[in-house]
Amino acid sequence: MKHQMANRNLCFFLILLLGLNQSSVFCWKKDEFRNCNQTPFCKRARALKPGSCSLVADNVAISDGELTAKLISKKQDNQEDESQIKPLILTLSVYQDGIMRLKIDEDPSLDPPKKRFEVADVIVSEFPSKKLWLQRLSTETLGGDASPSSIAYLSEGYEAIIRHEPFEVYVRDRAGNRVVSFNSHGLFDFEQLRQKKEGDDWEERFRGHTDTRPYGPQSISFDVTFYEADFVYGIPEHATNLALKPSRGPGVEESEPYRLFNLDVFEYIHDSPFGIYGSVPFMISHGKSRGTSGFFWLNAAEMQIDVLGSGWDAESGISLPSSQSRIDTFWMSEAGIVDAFFFVGPGPKDAIRQYTSVTGTQAMPQLFSIAYHQCRWNYRDEEDVVNVDSKFDEHDIPYDVLWLDIEHTDGKRYFTWDRVLFPHPEEMQNKLAAKGRHMVTIVDPHIKRDESFQLHKEATQKGYYVKDAGGNDYDGWCWPGSSSYPDTLNPEIRSWWAEKFSFQNYVGSTPSLYIWNDMNEPSVFNGPELTMPRDALHYGGVEHRELHNAYGYYFHMATSDGLVKRGNGKDRPFVLSRALFSGTQRHGAVWTGDNTADWDHLRVSVPMILTLGLTGMSFSGADVGGFFGNPEPELLVRWYQVGAYYPFFRGHAHHDTKRREPWLFGERNTELIRDAIHVRYALLPYFYTLFREANTSGVPVMRPLWMEFPFEEATFGNDEAFMVGNSLLVQGIYTERAKHASVYLPGKQSWYDLITGTAYKGGMSHKIEVSEESIPAFQRAGTIVPRKDRFRRSSTQMANDPYVLVIALNSSQAAEGELYIDDGKSFEFQQGAYIHRPFCVLGRETCIVKPSIISSSR
Ligand code: NOJ
Repeated sequence: MKHQMANRNLCFFLILLLGLNQSSVFCWKKDEFRNCNQTPFCKRARALKPGSCSLVADNVAISDGELTAKLISKKQDNQEDESQIKPLILTLSVYQDGIMRLKIDEDPSLDPPKKRFEVADVIVSEFPSKKLWLQRLSTETLGGDASPSSIAYLSEGYEAIIRHEPFEVYVRDRAGNRVVSFNSHGLFDFEQLRQKKEGDDWEERFRGHTDTRPYGPQSISFDVTFYEADFVYGIPEHATNLALKPSRGPGVEESEPYRLFNLDVFEYIHDSPFGIYGSVPFMISHGKSRGTSGFFWLNAAEMQIDVLGSGWDAESGISLPSSQSRIDTFWMSEAGIVDAFFFVGPGPKDAIRQYTSVTGTQAMPQLFSIAYHQCRWNYRDEEDVVNVDSKFDEHDIPYDVLWLDIEHTDGKRYFTWDRVLFPHPEEMQNKLAAKGRHMVTIVDPHIKRDESFQLHKEATQKGYYVKDAGGNDYDGWCWPGSSSYPDTLNPEIRSWWAEKFSFQNYVGSTPSLYIWNDMNEPSVFNGPELTMPRDALHYGGVEHRELHNAYGYYFHMATSDGLVKRGNGKDRPFVLSRALFSGTQRHGAVWTGDNTADWDHLRVSVPMILTLGLTGMSFSGADVGGFFGNPEPELLVRWYQVGAYYPFFRGHAHHDTKRREPWLFGERNTELIRDAIHVRYALLPYFYTLFREANTSGVPVMRPLWMEFPFEEATFGNDEAFMVGNSLLVQGIYTERAKHASVYLPGKQSWYDLITGTAYKGGMSHKIEVSEESIPAFQRAGTIVPRKDRFRRSSTQMANDPYVLVIALNSSQAAEGELYIDDGKSFEFQQGAYIHRPFCVLGRETCIVKPSIISSSR
């Protein structure tokens, strides 16, 4: 807290000093974090010249159903050359649904000093069984090449190609058009592990911290090209546009690459490629002529990615096969191996289905958890909880979950209660539960180093903490002061951690209590860049640098397993996590961390959530109202109006802010916020159905317009409006006192205003009048949206209420939609205990009732 308070004071001071109070004043402490130039691997990689890779694919063959090859250096005869690359092992495998996997690692038979880290537990267990057994390779010299290429089957429409010299890998369609390629610009570089020799200085220093780097340089970099691409998207988490702007190239202003390094960034700014709490190295490209493709690099070390502006390679002399539009990207990582997946799409939903078939789909949430959550740092004591809870009833505002932040514990010892402030935790939860409401408490990974704290004693005795470079329990500074961190990479430690959530171990917890994992990047106030040193050690001798971006993922997984175990495997868990990695969607929800109460942050919340959705993480949201600062009532109301459509909908605020429960801004504003929350409660059946779609197909609940209208160029760069499912389009209002909004409504069909029912023509922009009462939202003609229109105290109490179907006919007087229902709580839906009902209104044409709308967009 000290750390954040000190920063905050500095911010106020700065604002006073400048005499400004505008959005350009920010307090992001840039100097605390490394930029690419201060990050040696990034600097080295960016200095590489196209064509510098001297590798040749040799011994290309099929073995065990995979294509294998050795990558050898053409400069092989120069044995004296220290930088000489030893042969690398390449394997290329193909999977159902057009997925190609490329692995490149050191050759174990050449005794590298250490096995490089491969991230386990991200790829779903079913994925390996989807492997197609390669049997045949054809070798041909293609196009203007001087050397042969080996061609393997990928799917009915696509082939996997490896060109031998210069070495290149790509996917092409049967007509010979390239889709995605690797090393086409010859930027592949693989720093091999070496034994340290006298005189080698591998240490790296940054702001008083020294990284001992016992294994020396071990980074990997390469270029990836997307063909027929108008835009690239994905690679969260950054506070920036949905369509990724070029980071390098002629006329490009911004010179930092997109960074993927999980960090607790205090007061992050709203438009930056700087990495924040989470990292998903999955990029998706989209263009009007071909559609969508994707590339995923499974690697948990720090990554930096350049999107290269056209003309970046003007002097390289390398010319790629012509393509109307092509986007080149450059990927750099500090460690690990190449374990890359290529997805052919061709529809946006296909690419996401392919990616989530590797990393998993969204876990099906409990129904209550997709309703409204009320949070604050902190609800002070039991009396405060009772008051807030009863005020919701008094003001007739539904809510489902009340949250307790770190101050509810005994001195930031998680799993404990401050017994003065919270003497009767069970009773408090039971009172909420009687109204169908739930509670969430926070459990962070930093464990207070206090000899009298049983959890710490046990973790120390069992050797369960992450170690420092010297092999002692790593000791860092966080909320409780001196702290250590459980090494949840180790499955034994995960299972020990999971046990801590049993009702017996977590004294004062009840079945209606769920969990919030915060600070799991991990945040370490006195660590380099506010995190754990890269030379800290994990299970199996894995260095923290190799694992960093997945630390929070493993912690989240262990917590979520704990909630499943606690209920004997009956109930679905709910765990919100701040840090995230590929696969996090299988373990719960995420939010976009410490945003600020200003219009820009409200605006950027939409592309941030859309981007998370594109990478499989449907269950995400942003702090409604903004975490730092005090929103003007108008901003707060607008935030609720947009937030009501976030997949995860929670109001939250920093402890220095004024109280901002919905009834504190006068009757009119209370009414407006109530209306916004009512919109969400009415749409719960629709949202729940969409969550089931995300759970089965990976397709996100909240979608960019181009996902539903993939051929409509006008939608590609639009990240102010979004789709909820395939039926609703929502346009946020991001400015003060807005009277009008320009809204682009895609498609050939009409759209109906959700409130007035007014019809608007599709395929054009409309200037729509805006009132304070709501933000523009429309139902697409030809769809049916299920709702529940009776308002109760909580979603649980709506269980037996009747459904309402809102039917918006298209010009053929037809419409279709669906409704998914289960018990909202248990895993029995996995055994078939659900109703999934398609609805159809017949128009002039025959309307075929499909079993589900879960289908490709093309
Ligand atoms: C940082 C989190 O991002 C914020 O939501 C929380 O309130 C504080 N930590 C205190 O736990």
